Amino acid sequence: APAALRELLLSRITDVPDYPQPGVVFKDITPLLADAAAFGALTDALAELCVRHRADKIAGLEARGFILAAPAAIRAGVGFVPVRKAGKLPGATLGQTYDLEYGRAEIEIHADALEPGDRVLVIDDVLATGGTADASLQLVRRAGAEVAGLAVLLELGFLEGRKRLEAGLKGAPLEAL
Ligand code: PRP
Repeated sequence: APAALRELLLSRITDVPDYPQPGVVFKDITPLLADAAAFGALTDALAELCVRHRADKIAGLEARGFILAAPAAIRAGVGFVPVRKAGKLPGATLGQTYDLEYGRAEIEIHADALEPGDRVLVIDDVLATGGTADASLQLVRRAGAEVAGLAVLLELGFLEGRKRLEAGLKGAPLEAL
């Protein structure tokens, strides 16, 4: 992102030490969401990425990804598709499990949410280990669509999620604002 946008966004993300557990520094985006100018600039930037990468759908990852993805979809003039934690979607679903630091998690997409020819921009708030994002890229492809790109507000570089995603992106761009 341009330096000015980057500075604005970073200035509205705060560190919460020892949350959710001792030793972890949580990145809190709620100050950014509460600032209309910053949230608006973020929404514009995400919508621009949607246009630049010629996406015709935006998929958001539950829960904080929803908050960023839905307004970006409206602004870009494309539909929004939720990728939810397992058990929340009412129709027939495709599921993908992935490893967490301790244990496993599963996310789902509606099996009929996408169709061949769709180009999907996946949006989430934070890229940490990359497990969630990697699973979401697999779901988009299993649902029959193409991955136009992955966009996140914040990339925690030291966790090397970008490296973990290399195979799963198959050349699609990873944009960290
Ligand atoms: C957080 C974050 C990403 C994911 C990143 O979600 O919003 O989705 O973790 O971690 P990873 O790169 O190591 O997979 P969380 O599960 O805390 O859900 P929430 O948005 O519902 O709070």
